[in-house]
Amino acid sequence: MSVRQTATVQTCYARLSGTGHFLPATTLTNAELEQRVDTTDSWIRERTGIQTRHIASTDESVVTMGTEAAKRALDAAGLGAADLDLIVMATTSADRAFPSAACEVQHALGVTDIPAFDVAAACSGFIFALSVAEKYIISGAAKHVLVIGSDTLSRLCRPDDRNTIVLFGDGAGAAVLSAADSPGILSTHIYSAGEFASLLGADHPNRDDEALQQEAWLYMRGREVFKVAVEKLASLVEDTLSFHDMTAQELDWLIPHQANFRIIQATAKKLGLPLEQVVMTLAETGNTSAASVPIALDWAIRDGRIQRGQTLLLEAFGGGFAWGSALIRY
Ligand code: UT7
Repeated sequence: MSVRQTATVQTCYARLSGTGHFLPATTLTNAELEQRVDTTDSWIRERTGIQTRHIASTDESVVTMGTEAAKRALDAAGLGAADLDLIVMATTSADRAFPSAACEVQHALGVTDIPAFDVAAACSGFIFALSVAEKYIISGAAKHVLVIGSDTLSRLCRPDDRNTIVLFGDGAGAAVLSAADSPGILSTHIYSAGEFASLLGADHPNRDDEALQQEAWLYMRGREVFKVAVEKLASLVEDTLSFHDMTAQELDWLIPHQANFRIIQATAKKLGLPLEQVVMTLAETGNTSAASVPIALDWAIRDGRIQRGQTLLLEAFGGGFAWGSALIRY
C-alpha cells in the first residue's frame, strides 16, 4: 500500500514557492578516480553517465550545505527564515546521530521554537520529506515549510571500493512549500520495501565494535538494485499518472533521481518521454542521494527550462528500498 493524497475534499494546497541548491567547490573527476582505483573514465561514463562529482571539504557537512541551499530557496521564495513554520530535512549521512541535522540547520538560519526534524529515506528522502511537508500545509497546520535534501555519501564509500566510490557525490537541495488556494503539489506517492535491505545500505559507524567500525561502509549489489529500480520506477510513474487520469504527454518535465543514466532512460522510455524533457545533472553531480532530486529541480528552474504553470514529475528510488514520486504544477 502507498501513502497518497486524495484530492477530492481539498481546499488548501501546497505550492513550491522557492528552490535552491548548493554544491561543494571541490570536484573529483573520472580521470582522478582512475588514479585511485581500478576503473576507467569510459567504464564510468558508459555504465552510469557520470563524468565528475562534487565532494564536501572537511569544513563542509550535511548541515552547512543544507543551510546554504535553504537560504537560496528562501531568497527565491521572497521569504525569511522567520516566516517558516516547520523544517523537514532528508538525510542519511549527518555527522551526528542527534541533534537532528534539521535542528542544526534551524539554528544556523537563526530561528527557534518551530519544529525541525529529519526524515531518513536514503536517495528518496526528498520526496518523502516533501510528502510530509505537504500534509502539514494541506491540513492547515503550517503556512510555509522548508524541505531540504542534503547528503555526503562520498564519505560513506570505502576509498578503495570501485563499486561505490565512482557513483556518489555530495550536495544539498531545498524547496520552500507554501499554502496556496490552487495546486501546487497534485499528489505524492511513497513506498517502502524493507526486505531489500541486504542489497543497499550503510552500517552506522558509531557502533561499539572496532571490527564493525572498519566495515561501516556503504554496500551495494548494483546489478540487483538496478533491476528492482527500473521495475519499481516504471510502475511508480504509471500509477502516479493514472491516479490523475493523465498521460505522459501532459508532462512538461521529468525530474528523476540521478543515480544512473540507464535507469533514467528506461523510465523516460516507459513514459514515452523524449530525453529533452528529462532534467539530468548526473554527469556533473553523480548520485547525491537525498539532494539529487531537489538539485536537479532547482538547476532547471534557475536555467529557465522549468517555467511557472508547467507540470513536473519528480521520482526517486534508493536504499530501504524506498521510492516515491511527486506530481507538481509549478
Ligand atoms: O541511488 C540509489 C540507488 N542506486 C542505484 O540505482 C544504482 C543501481 N545500479 C547501477 O547503477 C549499476 O548497477 C552500477 C553502475 C552500480 C554497475 O553497473 P552494471 O552495469 O550493473 O555493472 P555490474 O555491477 O554488473 O559490473 C559489471 C562489471 C563487473 O566485472 P565482471 O564481473 O563482469 O568481470 C564489475 O566488477 O564491471 C565491474 N565494475 C567496474 N569496472 C570498472 C564494477 N565497478 C567498476 C568500476 N570500474 N568502477
